[in-house]
Amino acid sequence: MIPIARPQMGEEEVSAVREALLSGMLAQGARVRELEERFAAFVGVPHAVATSSGTTALQLALLGYEVGAGDEVITVPFTFISSATSILHAGARPVFVDVDEATFCIDPDRVEAAITPRTRAILPVSLYGQPAAMPDLAAIAERHGLALIEDAAQSHGAAIDGRRSGSWGVGCFSFYPTKNMTTGEGGMITTADAGVAERARLLREHGMRVRYHHDVVGYNYRMTDIHASIGLAQLTRLPAANERRREIAQRYDAELRGVITPRVAPGVTHVYHQYTLRVRRRDEFAERLRERGVGSGIYYPIPVHRQKPFEALGYAAQHYPLTEHLTEQVLSIPVHPSLSDAEVTTVIESVNRVAEELGPLEPGSAR
Ligand SMILES: Cc1ncc(COP(=O)(O)O)c(C=O)c1O
Repeated sequence: MIPIARPQMGEEEVSAVREALLSGMLAQGARVRELEERFAAFVGVPHAVATSSGTTALQLALLGYEVGAGDEVITVPFTFISSATSILHAGARPVFVDVDEATFCIDPDRVEAAITPRTRAILPVSLYGQPAAMPDLAAIAERHGLALIEDAAQSHGAAIDGRRSGSWGVGCFSFYPTKNMTTGEGGMITTADAGVAERARLLREHGMRVRYHHDVVGYNYRMTDIHASIGLAQLTRLPAANERRREIAQRYDAELRGVITPRVAPGVTHVYHQYTLRVRRRDEFAERLRERGVGSGIYYPIPVHRQKPFEALGYAAQHYPLTEHLTEQVLSIPVHPSLSDAEVTTVIESVNRVAEELGPLEPGSAR
């Protein structure tokens, strides 16, 4: 079976972990600091704060802006659950705005209509490795005095006109094993805002500036030096890994038939965390691919506003037509950098054959 994800692990990671284990410093220490410095330079911002996960990065970013009870945060219903549950954890209310059908990211033209006097932040998601329309969103945020928090969990190294994901407002990355780079579990906040970075650092470690002197109610959301050592090796790999993803995506763009392939907005460097198709009879499509030895994934089968934690907020009756439509059609196929050229050919032949069997889906056509 060609798997949907396969983390790249080599001798570099193994010896980095070994050194960390034998260093005597296991919790947050010099390796975490080094990863923060290198990741900040990679994104192109002065500050980076390592966290225990992408989810805790999102929480700390919201709390860094002092988002809390009575506040509203605009985000999308077409995402992983923690883009929205992090807003609930901060005590605020998520306000959903539908996505743009072409990019799968928040439609900036719908954002202003969702702004109320309670809105404190916009939290777009750079889904599948394509940055949301960050320059447009930054202009809206600026006009209305709102914080801008990019969920960049899937977009390490992606860019718009050369400017990297995570460099507008605050960026929140995940280092979960299937992501473009991993630390096992882990996350990172990136920003040019020294105040937010400082508050995130404070909350990450029990609200403590001086040891055992606690200024506010904080958390333990630290990354360990063991995880950071993996991240340092992975960050070195990231540019080549992203390049290989882009090379595979180019072949898919050119050779796949009978399915809708991803569209990339002008000026965007897509890093293909996922290569996501839209297909006819999606579940059957996935099953037929599996029979041919090709793994696939559905990200995400249920819109966030229809998930149980959001029922109490009264969203069940709300309609986000594009999100609902996409959740029935999307299917991600393997695009990870360790695919061989022969495996890429197998994926292409299998997708084309199944699309032929089930009937093509063309842009604008019915389900
Ligand atoms: C879009 C998105 N947001 C947030 C997260 C949360 O990251 P983590 O799993 O590291 O908590 C993920 C990854 O799982 C994600 O894909």
